[in-house]
Amino acid sequence: MTDWARVEEINSKRLSLFQQLHVYGDIVPLKFRLNVDAIEEQLKPFADRWVQYNKSKAANARMGLSVTSLDGGMSGVPDLDSIYEWSQQTGKKVSEADFNQPTDAYRACREIHPLFESFMPNVGRCRFVRFGAGGHFPPHRDGSVSFQVPDYFRILVPLTNTGEDAFHFVHDGRLVSYEVGRPYLFNALKTHSVVSFQDAALTLALSVSLKQETVAQAIKLFKIY
Ligand SMILES: [Fe+2]
Repeated sequence: MTDWARVEEINSKRLSLFQQLHVYGDIVPLKFRLNVDAIEEQLKPFADRWVQYNKSKAANARMGLSVTSLDGGMSGVPDLDSIYEWSQQTGKKVSEADFNQPTDAYRACREIHPLFESFMPNVGRCRFVRFGAGGHFPPHRDGSVSFQVPDYFRILVPLTNTGEDAFHFVHDGRLVSYEVGRPYLFNALKTHSVVSFQDAALTLALSVSLKQETVAQAIKLFKIY
């Protein structure tokens, strides 16, 4: 039987940390600006290592490249697949925080190191996503399977071909305006979606474990404080 008192205690702790961050806003720019050309150059050796993102779903022009994974490998299983289905098949339970082993792509892509090092060793599942025209993530929320509040927070970095009219990031029903190359902490419990109108669009998505120290660190990294 579910121990609801324990569930409440865990949710309350997480909510307190989540609120500490998002009381500042649902979409908060950080004081980094990543060089898109440098990232493309550093990812060139991995041109044939991209894997279809969530291949069990209907055709969708989006490929993933793992920056972190369960074992440091780049197979994309299960980090770029349906983790739910993988759990059903293997009986293993994993959380975002378990995907914390840096891959070869991470080591090669030096441009992203300062951002990642700010949160190491508390970085969870992170990946580049390459979109073709029409590639998208439909409206969804990123929650937690077992609890009502997740144990991580999210950062999105719009990169290649994500400028105005090329790519849309919709959050809580509104089109977001952003700077290309700028990391944004965003409240992923509210509905969000992305869609690319051009080929070869690139984004970077990070999960960071929700802890008092990572919340403090994120606030230190706000572009405006
Ligand atoms: Fe999401």
